[in-house]
Amino acid sequence: MSDKNRVIIFDTTMRDGEQSPGASMSLEEKIQIARIFDELGIDIIEAGFPIASPGDFEAVTAISKILKNSIPCGLSRHTKKDIDACKESLSHAKRFRIHTFISTSPLHMKHKLNKSSEEVYESIKEHVTYARKFTDDVEWSCEDGTRTNIDFMCKTVELAINCGAKTINIPDTVGYSVPSEFKKIIETLINKVPNIDKAIISTHCHNDLGLAVANSLAGVSAGARQVECTINGIGERAGNAALEEIVMAMKTRPDLMPFTTGINTKLLSKASKVVSNATGFPVQFNKAIVGKNAFAHESGIHQDGMLKNRNTYEIMTPESVGVKKTSLVMGKHSGRHAFKDKLGDLGYSGLTDDVIQTAFGKFKVLADKKKHIYDEDIVALVDDSLIKEDNVIKLKSLKVFAGTGEPQKADMTMEIYGEIKKATETGDGPVDAIFKCIKKLYPHNVNLQLYQVHAVTEGTDAQATVSVRIEENGKTTVGQAADTDTLVASANAYLNALNKMIIKRKKTAPSDVKSSNKEEQKMRGI
Ligand code: KIV
Ligand code: ZN
Repeated sequence: MSDKNRVIIFDTTMRDGEQSPGASMSLEEKIQIARIFDELGIDIIEAGFPIASPGDFEAVTAISKILKNSIPCGLSRHTKKDIDACKESLSHAKRFRIHTFISTSPLHMKHKLNKSSEEVYESIKEHVTYARKFTDDVEWSCEDGTRTNIDFMCKTVELAINCGAKTINIPDTVGYSVPSEFKKIIETLINKVPNIDKAIISTHCHNDLGLAVANSLAGVSAGARQVECTINGIGERAGNAALEEIVMAMKTRPDLMPFTTGINTKLLSKASKVVSNATGFPVQFNKAIVGKNAFAHESGIHQDGMLKNRNTYEIMTPESVGVKKTSLVMGKHSGRHAFKDKLGDLGYSGLTDDVIQTAFGKFKVLADKKKHIYDEDIVALVDDSLIKEDNVIKLKSLKVFAGTGEPQKADMTMEIYGEIKKATETGDGPVDAIFKCIKKLYPHNVNLQLYQVHAVTEGTDAQATVSVRIEENGKTTVGQAADTDTLVASANAYLNALNKMIIKRKKTAPSDVKSSNKEEQKMRGI
């Protein structure tokens, strides 16, 4: 690919992006963003509108001092004091760009500027020439370009180039254009403006109809070689063309768009996060390239396809934009294949098919109850399934009566060495009633040393993990269980500790007295 296909990336996150209502950034945040943009490989950084406020002036000054690779740029209207402010704030940099603009559409000239087209024409001559005194890198924009008479646009563009503008920017200021129309505008400029080869044509598209990226790419296909854009597509109203989408579209479809940029795409995700944090604008989950779900797959069919070959459902790798890994989000649509793969990721190897099947069944039940299934939920489920493998005492059913007034009561059915037994007990609270039932059904003499409840994940629908530690003759065991019902988890955790104690008794007793524990013998009918 030759240099004629190199597209210059002009970022205006800190100028047009900051013009989004509520998106203002502090000086420190802008400096942090500028450093990342510099590393990201952005060619031109429009750091602000220096005349607009002392804060903007200060930010442009500070940014122009720290950039190592990117060229800083400031925005100015067609007034000398705007241009002077650009020059003063930018001149700390070795090279800098002044971007000056005026509206050229009949609507804007009449209602906004109250100027005739001749006056606008004269203003271009005066101000582009003036800006050129300070730098040979002057960009001129015809604001509301896509609603400008095309013949007048051609005249103004020719004039701006004659006055020394090296970049001609065509804004779709109000996001009104569509790709076929925008392409035609750029083609017309290329075909009709006699000195167009002395300048680079740039696109600057707003997203009011959701077409900013499509219009920008149409402009590039027609011959534009600079794109103005913002990270996360932030900007006035519906925003500007999103930098990450433009860059990745060209990278992913070189067959249709054989263009290159200097962007290190692996830093896109980081840049997106930094901008989102600085502006306080969250990135929508389904946002292309940088959204949380951009590389997440939940449906069973998609997950199965992904595990067989990533290309089935991914057109670019998450690593290429700096996202560590595709996430197979575990939810109610996930299949067994993805569940098994997830277990591998979580460090479970060599599980029997039975354990996997049991855990998968429980996972499906939980997924129906909970919106988000976290890794910790799955760990708790599998541990629970593993533990139950050796259980000789099992909970079959539990009903608890709790609340104010009546004493708390538990009705419990347990399977003990294959025999079904039932009990009802009251207690000082529901957990006490449950533990009393267990003691009645399986008489034993242990000390309860610890009873602890943790919410494994967030939300009122979180799974609770209960830990119980018991002690018998100096030996301790810890039982754990997880359930969305804390009381069921409490019963299972206690039983888990007891089952472990039974195993411990067997393992630690001398061989001739194994199974001599009286309670156990009684329970087993020995
Ligand atoms: O949208 C617009 O027209 C602009 C210009 C200042 C370039 O942001
Ligand atoms: Zn704009």
